[in-house]
Amino acid sequence: MPEIPRAITLLKQGRLVAFPTETVYGLGADAANPRAIDLIYQTKGRPSTNPLIIHVAYVEIAKRYVAHWPAIATELADHFWPGPLTLILPKNHVIPDNATAGLPTIALRVPNHPLARELLRAFDGPLAAPSANRSTRVSPTTAKHVRDEFPDSPAAWGIEGNEPAMILDGGACSVGIESTVLDLTGPTPMILRPGQVTVADLEPIIGPVSFRQTILAPNTAAASPGQHEIHYAPRTPAFYFTTAQRGLIHPEEHGIVVLSPLRVFKDWEKIVAMPNDPIEYAQHLYAVLRKLDTMKLRALYIEIPPDRPEWAAIRDRLTRAATPLPV
Ligand code: TXA
Ligand code: MG
Repeated sequence: MPEIPRAITLLKQGRLVAFPTETVYGLGADAANPRAIDLIYQTKGRPSTNPLIIHVAYVEIAKRYVAHWPAIATELADHFWPGPLTLILPKNHVIPDNATAGLPTIALRVPNHPLARELLRAFDGPLAAPSANRSTRVSPTTAKHVRDEFPDSPAAWGIEGNEPAMILDGGACSVGIESTVLDLTGPTPMILRPGQVTVADLEPIIGPVSFRQTILAPNTAAASPGQHEIHYAPRTPAFYFTTAQRGLIHPEEHGIVVLSPLRVFKDWEKIVAMPNDPIEYAQHLYAVLRKLDTMKLRALYIEIPPDRPEWAAIRDRLTRAATPLPV
């Protein structure tokens, strides 16, 4: 892509470049430059306690940033990299501490998007990249979503500023939700954030994996970083309900929208029928939430899919994007 050399120049100068990955768009910075890392936190309005994912082009490069590379990480990288799996491993001193919120661990991922791979190969180093949205908001899955998040971005003019200096456009993301985050630093591998790579995908390769869906009560300290209760949230007040609570929902009265994976509400107006397949649902989820957010609705009412393993990632995002239906 012709924009790559300019992107590399900007990154080397410590500026931010948004780029597509197969999951969501990332807000990239040189992970070896602590000032560039600070800029990410400022630009997103992200708490400095929430560590970043470090993206690299190849598994060999990932090994440079860890204190210890376990055999299990090789197994996982062989099967899932490049791809939507992030590994948490013990950190060495190469990557500055502010990238990992001072933790003794580091999150590493080799993304699988042609443009991300081209960028990482050309940069020839580590890129810190959180999702390219304001903190707690819905992650972007198109370049336009990134522009909408940062409307004052000097990207178009190339002037100085905190906002992304450039946005690389790689079309719509194929996965649509953030990577699975797998912690390899404890006795049993543990999923900290569910994603397209599920327990069922991981266990045949590495044996038992622990995953507890943590829906945190308000004001509870997060057990692991990033598990904050409100996240991925639209600006419109959003509530979620279970299938058993359908009787409590009256869209014709409230002028509301229900997202249903089961398509049973299709006779109502303003209903968005979501795909009945978790992979397809994920592809569309954030674009739908962003679209609904532009409609000036009083509230969104979202039916959460069934409590089954294949829906774990979607349930995780919806229960953070919305609050339980007041009863
Ligand atoms: O799909 C993705 O992972 C996207 C694309 C751009 O790669 N990135 C992304 O980054 O979602 P972000 O910053 O929005 O989410 C990073 C997640 C957070 O939940 C964070 O707490 C967790 O990874 N994380 C990062 N480093 C960690 C660490 N050392 N220990 C535990 N969790 C960590
Ligand atoms: Mg994020």
